[in-house]
Amino acid sequence: MKRVITYGTYDLFHEGHLNLLRRAKELGDYLIVGVTTDSFDLERGKLNVCDNLMDRIEAVRATGLADRIVIEEYQGQKIDDIQKYGADIFAIGSDWTGKFDYLREYCEVVYLPRTEGISSTQLRERRAAPMRLGVVGSGSIARRFADEAACVSGVDIEALYNPVDERAALSYNGEAVRRYTGEYGEFLDAVDAVYVASPPVTHYGYVREALLSGKHVLCETPFVLSDAEARELYVLAEERGLTLMVALKTAYCPAFNHLITLLKSGVIGDIVDVTASVTTLLPDDDRRRKAAVGSGSFNENSCFPLLPILRLLGTDYEDIRFVSRFREGVDEYTRCMMQYPAAVASFQVGLGVKTEGNMVISGSKGYLIVPAPWWKTDYFEVRYENPAENRKFFYPYAGEGLRYEIKEFLMAVRAGKMDCVKLTEGENVAMAAICRMFKEESVPVVKI
Ligand code: CTP
Repeated sequence: MKRVITYGTYDLFHEGHLNLLRRAKELGDYLIVGVTTDSFDLERGKLNVCDNLMDRIEAVRATGLADRIVIEEYQGQKIDDIQKYGADIFAIGSDWTGKFDYLREYCEVVYLPRTEGISSTQLRERRAAPMRLGVVGSGSIARRFADEAACVSGVDIEALYNPVDERAALSYNGEAVRRYTGEYGEFLDAVDAVYVASPPVTHYGYVREALLSGKHVLCETPFVLSDAEARELYVLAEERGLTLMVALKTAYCPAFNHLITLLKSGVIGDIVDVTASVTTLLPDDDRRRKAAVGSGSFNENSCFPLLPILRLLGTDYEDIRFVSRFREGVDEYTRCMMQYPAAVASFQVGLGVKTEGNMVISGSKGYLIVPAPWWKTDYFEVRYENPAENRKFFYPYAGEGLRYEIKEFLMAVRAGKMDCVKLTEGENVAMAAICRMFKEESVPVVKI
C-alpha cells in the first residue's frame, strides 16, 4: 500500500484545497493530511487565519479523501510523521516548489500543480475590506508599527497626522503615507481606526476626538495619565460601540500569554512575589525624558511591569509606594512597591539608568524567571527546589512583536468587541490610576 502525506492550513476551505487533496490521493492508496494548529500558523507568520482548527479539520474530513488526519504543531514534525506513518510520498502544492526537497532523504517528494486564481488569503481579503488605519505621530515607534502592520493582512495604513513636524513622514509597504498636518478632523475622515503614537500628554485629546468621530482606537503606552480620563474614554467607546485598546505589546505576545496561563494553572503554587525591571538608557535630550510632554521613566515604562503584576495579583492592592531619583523635574529612576493581602510586588523603571531587566515570579512551590529583556518574552524557565524538575520554554517572537497587537486590534474591531481579554479595560484604568498616584505621591529621594 502506497501512503501519501500532505500538509496545509486549509483556512476557508476552497476548490484549490480540494483539487490538491484529490491529486495527492491519486498518487497512492492511503492519504494522510496534516492540518496546522493556530499557534504553529502564528509562528509561520499567518496571523489572521479565520477558521479555528476544529473547523479546518472538519472541512478536510468532509471531503472524504483523507484516510487519516494529523495535527501539525511544530517545525520538524513532517519528518517525524513521515517516519511514524511510513509515508512513501510527500505531496504539496507547486507554490512550495523546492522548499521541501530536504524531505527527499525520507521519502519521495512531489510538487503538484496549484489551482490558479484562488487562495485563502484572497478569500480572507474578499470577506472584509481592509481596515484603513491612521497613525498619529511619526516617531520611532510609529515607524516600527508601520513595518509590522505590513505583516498583518486586512490592515492598510492610510494616513499620518503630525501637526508639529512639517517634515514628518511615514513609509508603509515602500510608499509614503499621505500626511495631514493641520486638520485632525480631515485626517479622521480618511480612516476607520486610529493608532495614537504621539507624546503621552496628547493621548487623551486625540483618543477622545477619534472616539467622538466614531473611530476605533489603538493607543500607545502610557494610555492616559489619570483613571478619570481612562474611564471617560471607555464610556465614550462603549456608548459608540467602538474598540478601544492599548498597544502594550507584551500583553499580546504568545510567550507572555502562555507564561500567564501556566502560572494561573499553579505550576509554582501560590504566587507570593512578582519582581520586574524595565529600564532604557536614553540620551539626556530624548523626548521621553521630558516632564512637559508627560514622559519620565514611570509614565513611559511602568505599564510593562504592571502588566504581569495586575494580571497575576489583580487590581485590589492594599498599598503602593514609590521612591525616585528626579533630574530636572522628571523621574529618571523609580522603584515601586505594592502590597497585596497575600503577596507583594515590586518593580524598577528607569530612562537614565540601566538595571538587570529580568522578571522573577516566586511562589509557594517554585519560581518562574524570564531573562532580560523579559518584556520581549520568547523564553522562560520554571525552577524548583529540585533542579531535576526545572523546565525551559521557548517561543517565537516575530519581528518587533508589534504584529500581535495589530492582529488582536483588527480581530476585536471585526468582532465588535470593545477591548481584548489580553489587556482589559480594568487593567488599563488601574495603570492610569497608578500613574496619577505616582504624580501625586512619589517621594524624590534624590533631586539633581
Ligand atoms: N493549494 C493549491 N491551490 C491553491 C491554494 C492552495 O493547490 N489555489 C494547496 C497548497 O499548495 C497546499 C495546500 O493547498 O499544498 C494547502 O494550502 P494552504 O496554505 O492551506 O492554502 P492557501 O490558499 O495557499 O493559503 P494562504 O493563502 O493562507 O497561503
